[in-house]
Amino acid sequence: MTKHITNFTIVGKENYGPQYFKLVLKHPSTLPVIMPGQFVEVEVKNNKNVYLRRPISIHDVDEKANTLSLLIQIVGKGTSTLSQLEIGESLNLVYPLGKGFSVEGHKVLLVGGGCGLAPLLHTARCYHAKGIRPTVLLGGRTADLIPIKDEFGKYADLHFATEDGSLGEKGLVTSHSVFGKAYDRIVTCGPNPMMKAIARYANEKGIDCEVSLENNMACGIGACLCCVADTDEGHKCVCKEGPVFYAKDLTKWCNS
Ligand SMILES: Cc1cc2nc3c(=O)[nH]c(=O)nc-3n(C[C@H](O)[C@H](O)[C@H](O)COP(=O)(O)OP(=O)(O)OC[C@H]3O[C@@H](n4cnc5c(N)ncnc54)[C@H](O)[C@@H]3O)c2cc1C
Ligand code: FES
Repeated sequence: MTKHITNFTIVGKENYGPQYFKLVLKHPSTLPVIMPGQFVEVEVKNNKNVYLRRPISIHDVDEKANTLSLLIQIVGKGTSTLSQLEIGESLNLVYPLGKGFSVEGHKVLLVGGGCGLAPLLHTARCYHAKGIRPTVLLGGRTADLIPIKDEFGKYADLHFATEDGSLGEKGLVTSHSVFGKAYDRIVTCGPNPMMKAIARYANEKGIDCEVSLENNMACGIGACLCCVADTDEGHKCVCKEGPVFYAKDLTKWCNS
């Protein structure tokens, strides 16, 4: 798939509490096709201490408006600098990067933890466009740490799990009652312990499961090898051969 380097214009910005914000970015002409689970490498201007672009998942795409959106958690100097951007400013992206979710299966469960829910909105929309209404389970330590709540309801049956019980069922996502139902595919993105538990569960039950890894990245295009993951088929660049992998190919990772 061709990669593009494009200056987008920020046409929307929304804050979700002190940690999360969403940028809506308008393409100067026509957006190329973007698979759910693909990501962008964002240039961080205005900060001399940030040299590398930052990898961020494509949260949603509006083909008619030629916009894509990014949901970003402020964790350090790059994301903090990006949070200062305002509507009307430009943002340079290298995109679309990586191999996304396959959008296969009929009875589908999407599980997102914290900011890992970011790529799942476009994923839910793509399933919905195929006539499939997935089940979505979003988890976080508290309700405040689940940044997006309402948007998924248009495309999916929505459930929540919080460790303090402030939203949905109390406990870890992996003990939520939605896991009692039958699925032929599970798609997940979030903290590694959560994804490993879900991948092990899917492998034990023989359910196809796609996992989106968030290894640290630099180039984002398979050149520097700093994002390599140890899969059952050997070392693979998460940025180029992932970030989405099948759980059945990650049994060593799941059990590590
Ligand atoms: C494929 C992929 C998709 C991602 N999607 C999202 C998303 O949709 N929203 C979101 O908020 N975050 C996402 N991330 C994580 C995001 O890239 C990091 O939080 C961001 O790069 C941190 O930059 P920083 O300068 O603010 O933090 P730093 O000050 O550099 O470091 C703070 C923390 O961020 C981690 N980190 C630093 N650089 C990277 C890097 N290049 N790649 C991964 N982690 C890094 C460090 O391990 C450290 O724990 C994604 C990561 C990957 C690999
Ligand atoms: S980030 Fe450079 S090879 Fe993956």
